[in-house]
This record gives sequence, C-alpha cells and structure tokens, in this order.
Amino acid sequence: MSANPEPDAVASSAVPAEAVTPLIRGVAVLHRLTEAGGTLSLSALERATGLARSTVDRVTATLARMGYVRLDGRDVFLTPRLMELGNAYLAALRLPALLDARADALADELDESVSLAVADRDGIRFIHQATRRRAMSLSFRIGDLLPAERTAPGPLFAMEWTEPDWQAWRKRRTADPQDRSFPAVPPREEPGAAQDFERRVTAAAQDGWALDDQLIEPGLVAVSVPVRDPRAGRIVCAASVVSHTSRHTAADLRDTLLPRLRTAVRAMEDDLRAAPPRKGEASPSGLATWTGASKQELGREFVESLARGLTVLTAFGEGRSALTLTEVAQATGLARATARRALITYEHLGLVRATDRFFELTPRVLGLGFPPLSRTTLPEIAGPRMAELAARVHESTSLSVLSGTDIQYTARVATGRVMSVNLAIGTRLPAYATSMGRVLLADLPEPDRTLGPLRPLTSHTITDPAALAAVLDEVRAAGHALVDEELEEGLRSVAVPVRDRTGRAVAALNVAMHAARHSVEECVRDILPELRRTAALVEADLHVAGRFTRIPVS
Ligand code: PHB
Repeated sequence: MSANPEPDAVASSAVPAEAVTPLIRGVAVLHRLTEAGGTLSLSALERATGLARSTVDRVTATLARMGYVRLDGRDVFLTPRLMELGNAYLAALRLPALLDARADALADELDESVSLAVADRDGIRFIHQATRRRAMSLSFRIGDLLPAERTAPGPLFAMEWTEPDWQAWRKRRTADPQDRSFPAVPPREEPGAAQDFERRVTAAAQDGWALDDQLIEPGLVAVSVPVRDPRAGRIVCAASVVSHTSRHTAADLRDTLLPRLRTAVRAMEDDLRAAPPRKGEASPSGLATWTGASKQELGREFVESLARGLTVLTAFGEGRSALTLTEVAQATGLARATARRALITYEHLGLVRATDRFFELTPRVLGLGFPPLSRTTLPEIAGPRMAELAARVHESTSLSVLSGTDIQYTARVATGRVMSVNLAIGTRLPAYATSMGRVLLADLPEPDRTLGPLRPLTSHTITDPAALAAVLDEVRAAGHALVDEELEEGLRSVAVPVRDRTGRAVAALNVAMHAARHSVEECVRDILPELRRTAALVEADLHVAGRFTRIPVS
C-alpha cells in the first residue's frame, strides 16, 4: 500500500474496543480522497483503503447522502460542503477570524506570500494563506501538513516540545526518512541531520524568529515569528513571510522583511488581547432525526453510524471550542452513548483531543478535504449543479461575472441546440443587453452602474438610459432578469444572481433558449424556479467554501 500520510490511527496505539468501525472507514475514505487531490475512482479507492468494494460503495453512498462527496459514474469527488468539518475547527480556533486580515494586509504591503500555521504534533499545518500568484515555487494550501524540521515555523513550535514529543519526532524520521507521509512536500533526497534541527530550535529560542533556507525545495525561503496568546504566553500560531531566492535570499529576508513581520505580529497580539469574548455559534440541531430518515429511505446503503459520527465534528464552532460529552450530545441530538463512542473514535484517530471533561478538535480535521477544496473556484463549484440543471430543463446554462461594461462567461453547460453566438468560456457580451448582465448591474448601487454605449443589437434592444434604469430597478426587486430577443433575434434568456456570504451578487446564472421553444410565461413558470433552486445550491456551497478562504469567482 502507498504511504499513509494521514495515519488512520495514531501510530501503534490499538483501536479502542468502543471505537466505531464504520466511522474509522469513512474517515479513511475522506483522507484518501484528500491525498489524491479530491477525486478517485471507486476501484482506486478500494485499493487505497484496502476495504471491500461493497464497503466502499456503502461508505461513499452515505457520504454522498451527507453532501460530502459526489458520485459521477465510477468516480468519487469531494464536495465543497465537506469544508464544514474544517470550518468547525477553524471557527473553534478563532485565529483566522482574528488574524487573517492582518496577514492579508502584510502580504499586500510586502508583495510576498504570508501564511499562518499551527503546530500539529511534529508537523506544522497551515490555517491561512495570503498567496501572491507566482509561478516560481510551490505554494501551500490551507490544511497542508509539513514536517516541522523543513519549515520556518517548526523550530518555533519545537521550543515547547517535551521529551516525548522529541521521541515521537525521532521515531517518525527513522520510519519515514524521505517524508513520504507528507504529500505536500517533495520527497527528501538527503536524510538531514537531527542536530541541524536541534540547533535551529536553540537559535529560535534566542532570536524569537526562525528561517527556512530552501529546506523544502531549492529557491523557497521563509522567515517566521511566533504569535503568542497574550494571556497564557503560549505560542498559538506562527506567521511567515515566504519568498524566492530570485527576489530575496534568506539573509535578506531576515534583514529587510523580518522587522515588518514583527511589527505585524505585535499588532496581531494586540488584536488577540482586545478580542471580545467569543460569541457562541448556534449549534446544529435535528441531525439525529435526519440520519434516521435517511436510513429509512436508503436502507442498507446508508451507514447510519458513519453519518451520526460525522455530525459530531459539526457540534464544534465559534465559542464552542471545548465541549463536554453532554454538550456534544445536546448539539447533535445523539444519545450520550453514541456521542461518546464517536468521540472515542476521533480521539483514537487524532481528530479530537480530550482534556479533563472537555473535547476539542485538532488541526488534523483540516486533513479531511481542506487542501484540495480550499483551491476551489466558483465555476468549479457551479459546474456539477449546472449540469443537473441543463439535464432537467433541456436548455443551456451559463455562469458569468461582470467585467467593466461587459459580462464574461466563466462556466457553461450546453445542450445540443446551438445558438449563433459563440459562447466559449471567456466570451464577453455587453452587460446591458443580457439577462446575466442586468442581474449583475441591478445589484450595484445606481451610481456604480456603468453601462457603456447602448446600441440597438436587435429591433428590441432597450437603448434609452432612463428605460434601462427602470428595468434594472424591476430586476432588482424581482430577483431575476428576463431578456427577450434584445441581444439576438430568437434568443430568450432568464438569469438570477449568485450571492456570496455578504449578499453581494458575485456572478449570475442563466438559462438561454430559442424564443420559439418556450413562451415568456413558460420561462417564468417552468424554468425560473429550477434556476433559482440551482442558484441556491451553488450559493450554499459557496458560503461553506468561502467561510475561511477566498473563492475566486472566475
Ligand atoms: C508557506 O507559507 O508557504 C511556508 C511557510 C513556511 C515555510 C515554508 C513555506 O518554511
């Protein structure tokens, strides 16, 4: 079997008698899909997990029912919805909500990538990336796990390691000298002496910062500073500036960028000090009822203990970082015994940490889908939903964004019928004469609506600015736009907005058809509700995926 990057069980500890086997298997399936970049065929999943095909089928059917994977023929895909598990960890941690904006501002100021990472046993795991788009070196994703000794944050976290931590680190290096269990980094070519890392840890304790001088790959350099909890003094995360030797040598990073990183970290620590008490997030409810109903409906294909177990992770969130068994049971609606067995299973898998009576999520929860999914774009999120829509209404559907006075196509699912306009992705059309353009213009405050010259493209095109302004107000009130033969004779189209978490229309979704195929009334009665339903599904995915990452709209 291949390397096992996210060990399904903490090395060498026996599976507790009360652990829930289907939950262990479901987590293994999610890990393998994550390592594979988000998709595998059912047979590849069978090989990667060592599970029987019938088990893989039932586990994936259950995950599909939960909306965590999508099945397409023989292939399984992770879906944006799965990010709600990592979101539960990041919300409970609260650091992204408090610090991401400072990291982003520093990246803008320095024009270099800035990241935030937390300690994850003998590794570091990213919780935020403010990445500059540059082709030079690999860039890491939220949720990626790196071996501590090959990073700049590693020596900072290792300052707080106990003797058992050092032992675990040595054991891992002996077992995996090439870092095969860290799929995010290139394999190590030379072993690297243990003393090098120990020296770096000693230096970090003296200096209060640490460097990575091309320990991951040639050219990649980074400098890190610890961010401390102002009350306890403990290191809560590390902030790093990452560059390339073509712009900065490691020494150069230290001399020129480190002072500004330190200033930013001081501001972050001030923010932590000033942060108001956490407000408790509403916990999910009715989950147990839902799993029961799904069992009724799907029978043997639905593994209820897996579904119930996964809901336990979503009990955590902002202001809900440390929960008792009673609180987990209350939040999920599960029986105490069921919740307890799930927590025991998660503790065994290293996804939950127990101290006294309290349970907390660990950074490893981000390994359930976050690295590949945090790079999702809106067109990727919308694609499968648009394919379903096109199949239901037997017409073409497109997604577009506003670009100046034009709309630009970002995704499209065409049915057999061909329009005379060529609508490849990237195609621009004048916003004022299209349904998607009107939806997007209508969402803008009046003074920001730049229309460009209003030309008559057909005999129906509205070209009077006052008339168009009145139409846009109607569109805004109605929540959809219908454009009838104004762009092209015989072409009718209806569009609705796709809104981000803040309510802004970031894209528009339409269905376009030959005017002869549907009357305007049919279009509103039959097509519009399907279009709205699709937009709502896309928005739900976008809101989960966009909670802690910026999802590009094109
Ligand atoms: C990164 O954020 O990509 C990063 C941070 C620290 C390193 C290397 C890379 O040592």
